[in-house]
Amino acid sequence: MEDKLILAIETSCDETAAAVIKNGNEIVSNIVASQIESHKRFGGVVPEIASRHHVEQVTLIIEEAMNEANITFSDLAAIAVTAGPGLVGALLIGVNAAKALAFANDLPLIGVHHIAGHIYANRLITELKFPLMALVVSGGHTELVYMKEDGSFEVIGETRDDAVGEAYDKVARTLKLPYPGGPYIDRLADVGSPTINLPRAWLEQDSYDFSFSGLKSAVINTLHNASQKGIELSNEDLAASFQESVIEVLVEKSKRAAIEFEVKQFLLAGGVAANKGLRNKLTKEFEQLGIELVIPPLNLCTDNAAMIGAAAFVKLEKQHFAGYDLNGNPGLDL
Ligand code: KG4
Ligand code: ZN
Repeated sequence: MEDKLILAIETSCDETAAAVIKNGNEIVSNIVASQIESHKRFGGVVPEIASRHHVEQVTLIIEEAMNEANITFSDLAAIAVTAGPGLVGALLIGVNAAKALAFANDLPLIGVHHIAGHIYANRLITELKFPLMALVVSGGHTELVYMKEDGSFEVIGETRDDAVGEAYDKVARTLKLPYPGGPYIDRLADVGSPTINLPRAWLEQDSYDFSFSGLKSAVINTLHNASQKGIELSNEDLAASFQESVIEVLVEKSKRAAIEFEVKQFLLAGGVAANKGLRNKLTKEFEQLGIELVIPPLNLCTDNAAMIGAAAFVKLEKQHFAGYDLNGNPGLDL
């Protein structure tokens, strides 16, 4: 079989990324330009600034990915791009770059769902075994996704309010930690003790949905009440208590879903998959269950284009191509 190369582009949030992927599972090149430094002083991603950076960066990053792969456009089988969800102004930059390149080089165009990308990041490290379950945890998403087979996605549970990463970042901001605060909370939690009583949002007994805004508010209220009484709480213990509450719910629901759907594999995906506490607890629990757990390396957990190329390969095989009317869709369904 002839090798099939895909150029993939990702600009849905604050990373401008391009990658060349061979046969859906091999990284030939993978370039990511992070904008974190530009958004840091605002305490979150500023959509207008994100779009401007993408415009400046996108052609350079694509050129770098092509150069590093040492190929020309005639070597490609398709051009793939994240079509949503994400910031609309940010998505549009990638989508328009992909459309222009596909048209100019007479190549098929493939639109990819960002979450499908996060899940398929796992295909870059191992073979996927179906049926599988994926827990997608990032700054914008918290979802349990059931996949009966390649390319089929069923969201069995999702957050009803804040995404996990969003809750981490908001709690971190309350503790006056830099943006994005997830990794800082993770580090504090590692040295603290979960001694502060915080709620767990289990929701209805059989629900796979999540809710984190109540927990986030409980942390803020606990801090506020303590400071009014002149008590100084330990940031480490507060972080450890918050993290324990988050992880307990994520892991319990993941286990229940894996058992009920009799999956062969459980995948962790998204930026929060970098969380040490979550990785450790999932590893321990799935070992006991005897279900294979796959966790991508850190650089494939956070936003990148390699994962978009991996997800696009399934569509290339099925010839599910997009037209030139492809648009950035912030509310795209999986
Ligand atoms: O997937 P991602 O790079 O971007 C989105 O698509 O959202 O995820 C970024 C999120 C941020 O909220 C960040 O705070 C969180 O992932 N994050 C973490 C850790 N590393 C990154 N959250 C908890 N613990 C970590 N170690
Ligand atoms: Zn993401």
